[in-house]
Amino acid sequence: MLIHSASQLVTPLGGMRRGKEMSDLQIIPDGAVLVRDGRIVEASSTDDLLGAYPDEDKLDAGGKAVIPGLVDPHTHLVWAGDRAAEFEMRLQGKTYMEIMAAGGGIASTVRASRQAGVEELIRQALPRARSMFAHGTTTAEAKSGYGLELGSEIDQLQAILELDTLGPLELAPTFLGAHAVAPEYRDDPDGYTALVADDMLPAVKSWWEANAAQHPLPFVDVFCEAGAFTLQQTRRILEKARELGFPLKIHVDEFEALGGTRLAVELGAASADHLVKTTDEELQMLAKSHTVAVSLPCTPFGLADPHYTQARAIIDNGGVLALASDLNPGTAWCGNMQFVMALACRYLRLTPAEALTAATINAAAAIKREDKIGSIEPGKQADLLILNVDDYCQLVYRFGTNLVQTVVKSGRVYPIQPVQESVC
Ligand code: NIG
Ligand code: FE
Repeated sequence: MLIHSASQLVTPLGGMRRGKEMSDLQIIPDGAVLVRDGRIVEASSTDDLLGAYPDEDKLDAGGKAVIPGLVDPHTHLVWAGDRAAEFEMRLQGKTYMEIMAAGGGIASTVRASRQAGVEELIRQALPRARSMFAHGTTTAEAKSGYGLELGSEIDQLQAILELDTLGPLELAPTFLGAHAVAPEYRDDPDGYTALVADDMLPAVKSWWEANAAQHPLPFVDVFCEAGAFTLQQTRRILEKARELGFPLKIHVDEFEALGGTRLAVELGAASADHLVKTTDEELQMLAKSHTVAVSLPCTPFGLADPHYTQARAIIDNGGVLALASDLNPGTAWCGNMQFVMALACRYLRLTPAEALTAATINAAAAIKREDKIGSIEPGKQADLLILNVDDYCQLVYRFGTNLVQTVVKSGRVYPIQPVQESVC
């Protein structure tokens, strides 16, 4: 299939982008891309490719911009129920962590999610996955973490794997048994830490090898935060995970700086996520490392908190910055990466080019898939978007509506209900 007549074919090139490189996009005016067997064969101008492949099936981009499929490297896609009542409590002045300390927050979603079996979890998550896809996310990471006991955590991993099989949204799974201390261990957080490290991790690994051996091991993540897991507890879990061969991620510095960013770098984690309260020293250290810095601007936005990731300090020091939605029922029920990018340009002071890089190739690097997805380059999976605007900058300039017209996933074409706002 030849996708042709794109006003501009826009993509980062050459693997994950650091610092200044995040601004370098290849922009081919009147662009075209040749797709065969679900992969990208060639990207060039429409004249070149129509001339070289006149008999190929054609998809006319109609003078609109074409970009890589968006990648969302941090979501809590699978849960049951909602927390609208807590949102009202927060509007009246209670903080997120106060609600969590009183037995609400993550624990309240744990109660609802434990009761839901795999089928019900899928039934509730599927519309969210479909909505993410319709808004241009072609691959997303998805975490367990609303079970906090082995059986329910495995139900959630199973739901993620089944959702991935259902498609078209492709999922990268993460085990987040250390999302909060399980209610049964409320007075014994070290006991729960030991349970996760010594029992759950080996059990998840055996389950995975028996049931999902065709997939690489999931990431292991920990919520390193006052009121969740201390730095020592986080280290205990992640060192064990690393020993067992799991790749690592960490939730760090969302509300307080505990030193989790330094730990992420020391352990060679694939990513360190949130990074709102991170110290300058740790930001510098992160920027010089191979760990991807993942910022989640929907989270402070959702909490009406004015503090956002110091993204400029990461990029200007040569770091690899990615963006993600953090889709979850507590802080950010939003899986729309277009909105994430729009927030990032305003509150993280990213340029449109940096935002696109952060939501594509660098996001792919945060889930260790930058060799397969995240850019429009020969050999990569044919995951791309035809927008309904002719300049990719419109994607971050406008916000609040869907500017994706067609999603192409592994070479299959999915038309999205057209929303024609205004011609441009
Ligand atoms: O990334 N911080 C921990 N986890 C989520 C919130 C999850 C929830 O509140 O249900 C986050 O913000
Ligand atoms: Fe999160």
